[in-house]
Amino acid sequence: MKFFVDTADVDAIRELNDLGMVDGVTTNPSLILKSGRDILEVTKEICGIVDGPVSAEVVALDADAMIAEGRKLAEIADNIAVKVPLTWAGLKTCKVLSDEGRMVNVTLCFSANQALLAAKAGATFISPFIGRLDDINLDGMDLIQDIRTIYDNFGFETQILAASIRTVNHVTQSALIGADVITAPPSVIKSLASHPLTDKGLDAFMKDWAKTGQSIL
Ligand code: E4P
Repeated sequence: MKFFVDTADVDAIRELNDLGMVDGVTTNPSLILKSGRDILEVTKEICGIVDGPVSAEVVALDADAMIAEGRKLAEIADNIAVKVPLTWAGLKTCKVLSDEGRMVNVTLCFSANQALLAAKAGATFISPFIGRLDDINLDGMDLIQDIRTIYDNFGFETQILAASIRTVNHVTQSALIGADVITAPPSVIKSLASHPLTDKGLDAFMKDWAKTGQSIL
């Protein structure tokens, strides 16, 4: 399973990328706002750090303007995936840009039928938002499972990019179901390494080691 990091914070991306943990990056207008950076400038910098797909989102709402924005974003670097919302205009943009050979990430997916449409429009990635479904007391994991089943039933090659990941359990469940990619904030990716028994065990080893009076170096 691939790990994308869901941020426009270049320092955080660089840190995780140096550890080999980053297969790609996703951004959105809210993350660009949070970064305080210019979208074209920060996206170009991210594309220079990461080899894999870097999602940059259009903000127009009609298809013609979306297509123009998508082409402009795609000019930033070869590894840009143009991110479009799951609307009819977004699906039209997806079809046009994917026919041009560009990677497209269809975002804000909340139903299996939406995911089916995105696959038929040639999406490279579909982004079901797990956390936001959990926020309204639905089970985001059911959606990932439904999309996996439907895509496998018909051989769609669109990759399932589990998004809006808030917890380490979301990562485990996505991996078990067979999502192709997860995108998560740096804090969630880092917390995958944490376990209370690891901390407890390390603490005991350190105390016993101190008692030996030895040193390795
Ligand atoms: C994914 O592409 C989105 O940028 C992101 O996962 C949204 O997450 P949120 O629901 O925590 O804002």
